[in-house]
Amino acid sequence: MQHCEFDSHSPKNTAELAERLGRAVERGAILLLEGELGAGKTTFVQGLARGMGLTDYVRSPSFVLVHEYRNGPLPLFHADFFRLSGAEEALDLGLEDVAAPGVLVIEWPERAEEALPEEALRVRIVVGTAMDDRHLTFSAKGERAERELDALRSTAAGGQP
Ligand SMILES: Nc1ncnc2c1ncn2[C@@H]1O[C@H](COP(=O)(O)OP(=O)(O)O)[C@@H](O)[C@H]1O
Ligand SMILES: [Mg+2]
Repeated sequence: MQHCEFDSHSPKNTAELAERLGRAVERGAILLLEGELGAGKTTFVQGLARGMGLTDYVRSPSFVLVHEYRNGPLPLFHADFFRLSGAEEALDLGLEDVAAPGVLVIEWPERAEEALPEEALRVRIVVGTAMDDRHLTFSAKGERAERELDALRSTAAGGQP
């Protein structure tokens, strides 16, 4: 397990950090994005998509469980579990199968802890006291996630590993 922390002071900071991660993600990667409403999870996914070379705009996936963005080298699957009925629904999806051909990013993974795979890169976004301040904590479990986090650490300017 590896950890790493960053401070963000604007939506742009958050998106740029995610963009760097987007350049490092590997096929089959699963990213879990935790944080309250308005923390910046969707902002993070927008940056991630840009880093993965996807040009589609990523919106908040409120009405379907998984959105697909397939116009880049690797497809991005974006899930929002906010309205999930329970872990059963996520288990039925087979999260590792969904991720296998590309990268799966999940907002509100807390809604389905029992269905989450062991190996993943967890990102926790906490809102700070100043209006645009966010604190991001990354925890990597498994070799792929650790490689991705290493790559982020070595490319992110201003990070505090
Ligand atoms: N440092 C920051 N990082 C990310 N978003 C921020 C930051 N500061 C302010 N914001 C604002 O907070 C909101 C985050 O919204 P969104 O990304 O949809 O959050 P979530 O998906 O977690 O509900 C946006 O309006 C964004 O402009
Ligand atoms: Mg969101």
